[in-house]
Amino acid sequence: MLNPADLLTSFDPETGVIDGALRSERCLSDLRGIFHDADAYAAALADGDPLVYYTYAVEPADGPGDLYYAIGTILPGRIGDEYYMTKGHLHTWRPAAEFYIGLRGSGLMLLEDEATGESHLVPLEPNGAVYVPGSTAHRTINTGDEPLTYLGIYPARAGHDYAAIAERGFSTIVTCVDGRPVARRV
Ligand code: F6R
Ligand code: ZN
Repeated sequence: MLNPADLLTSFDPETGVIDGALRSERCLSDLRGIFHDADAYAAALADGDPLVYYTYAVEPADGPGDLYYAIGTILPGRIGDEYYMTKGHLHTWRPAAEFYIGLRGSGLMLLEDEATGESHLVPLEPNGAVYVPGSTAHRTINTGDEPLTYLGIYPARAGHDYAAIAERGFSTIVTCVDGRPVARRV
């Protein structure tokens, strides 16, 4: 049995902060190659290296049936006309699915089936949960003007495979057109 102190963690749904959890940050310089408009990326980087998103992860136990969870917060912003978003990944252990639950703000999840390349955009908002099946690349996009905060629950053995995505990229981008998100195949 886990130590009782590991059975409960509390989080702040406004800031996405989990006291005592592992924080990691992605600044613009960590996201080279993911935004479509290379000139806009270079200009934004020359202007500073803003924080784009941060996560807090809770990893209570890592046995075969165990779960981790993480809260992600993507700040509002755009590179050119493309919204701030996560790097995106597949799970190293491909069968691992994940549940995302919206806590604050409004955004989209881009889900792309690794085998078929078929992609879907699903709203991520408070009181909504998005199921990410196994073998599905997933990226989270903040389409609003406040931070987008969400909680993801996944198998402890899932792992993150960023290399496969870096190689093939996602087939869809989401840009702001007349103040609204519009999806485009690339
Ligand atoms: C875990 C998961 C999330 C992401 C987070 C940051 O499997 O999907 O906790 O890790 O949204 O996104 P990435 O990892 O793509 O930088
Ligand atoms: Zn994941």
